[in-house]
Amino acid sequence: MSIVINNIGLLVTNDPSIGTDELGQIRNAAIVICGDQIAWVGPSAEAPPADHQSDMAGACVIPGFVDSHSHPVFAGDRSDEFDARMNGQKYQAGGILRTVRRTREAPMGFLAAVMTGILDEMARSGTTTVEAKTGYGLDVETEVKLARVASSHTDEVTFLGAHVVAPECQPDEYVRLVCGEMLHAVRPYVRWIDVFCETGAFDPDQTLEILRAGKEAGLGLRLHAAQLGRSEVIPQACELGLASIDHCTFLSDEDIDALKATNTVATLLPAAEFSTKQPYPDARRLLDAGVTVALATDCNPGTAFTSSMPFCLAIAVREMGMTPEQALWSATAGGATALHRDDVGVVKPGARADLVSLAAPSWLHLMYRPGVPLIDRVCKAGRFLQ
Ligand code: NIG
Ligand code: FE
Repeated sequence: MSIVINNIGLLVTNDPSIGTDELGQIRNAAIVICGDQIAWVGPSAEAPPADHQSDMAGACVIPGFVDSHSHPVFAGDRSDEFDARMNGQKYQAGGILRTVRRTREAPMGFLAAVMTGILDEMARSGTTTVEAKTGYGLDVETEVKLARVASSHTDEVTFLGAHVVAPECQPDEYVRLVCGEMLHAVRPYVRWIDVFCETGAFDPDQTLEILRAGKEAGLGLRLHAAQLGRSEVIPQACELGLASIDHCTFLSDEDIDALKATNTVATLLPAAEFSTKQPYPDARRLLDAGVTVALATDCNPGTAFTSSMPFCLAIAVREMGMTPEQALWSATAGGATALHRDDVGVVKPGARADLVSLAAPSWLHLMYRPGVPLIDRVCKAGRFLQ
């Protein structure tokens, strides 16, 4: 079955071979969808016939957001920690263990319902591809449970057994568990492995050991680093072949050179800095150095309990030195690059039909009108969600 979506006032394709800018924009455009894929993109007047028609009435259409970093499988509420921070307390990664306790007690059906709720919110905010991490189990049984729940919603599941050391383990013993039995048990459900490398979580040696074990098991590599302070691990980790380093607030020039030299994406997570009152990462410095930047929510109950990519876009342009064009690219094609995907974050023949229409004449309104619900219709893999 084919459908022609016509009368698109302004279309962002992220295909630089279309139009004159990086966003590959066209006015008065049409798209033909066949099944779950895009079959044709071009001027409305030249659209080929299709079985069905959908009229966008001049709306602006963008690729669905690619949220390449989230922690959406957990139980329990930590709004009290947010309250404490807004009353002057500093963020401490130790709060992770509160979520671990609640998550271990939760039945699988409850965890699945939490994730479904967050994914519904994300879809309503225009997100059509989601990466989801484990990391609130920290024992074999619960990490497998989280990986299974996540894998029933997305292909982009990341094993984050190395979030912090499990409370019942010594650090060395826990690193052995993560690299051995736990990694083996979650392997069927996950595509990526991630480590939280920070004081209070894992040190550079432990981080490299865990990443090497993941690589040996055939997983792609991701890393949380330089969130709360400088990280000594970045150049060596980049050499291992990371898809992305996430947070990237406290980077040395050498770290930036390593990101650039190895084509590692820097994924910036402004909602975390918003909620922890940490400084925002300097996107301008990374972009000027030629590093690929992605934007993602980091949706999690401790440091960033938002599912909204438009919220992240607004912060990125206001506080991080990104132009609106760069921010939109980073939240769509940038996220796809961080996940090594060429079928999402872009509107071109052969890509998955993931589209968002806006109740606004231009995507610029996403940042110009922060907090306003401008996401109108969302099409994921060729199906309109509402
Ligand atoms: O990405 N940095 C590590 N993990 C999460 C925080 C998790 C939590 O506090 O529960 C993050 O910010
Ligand atoms: Fe995170």
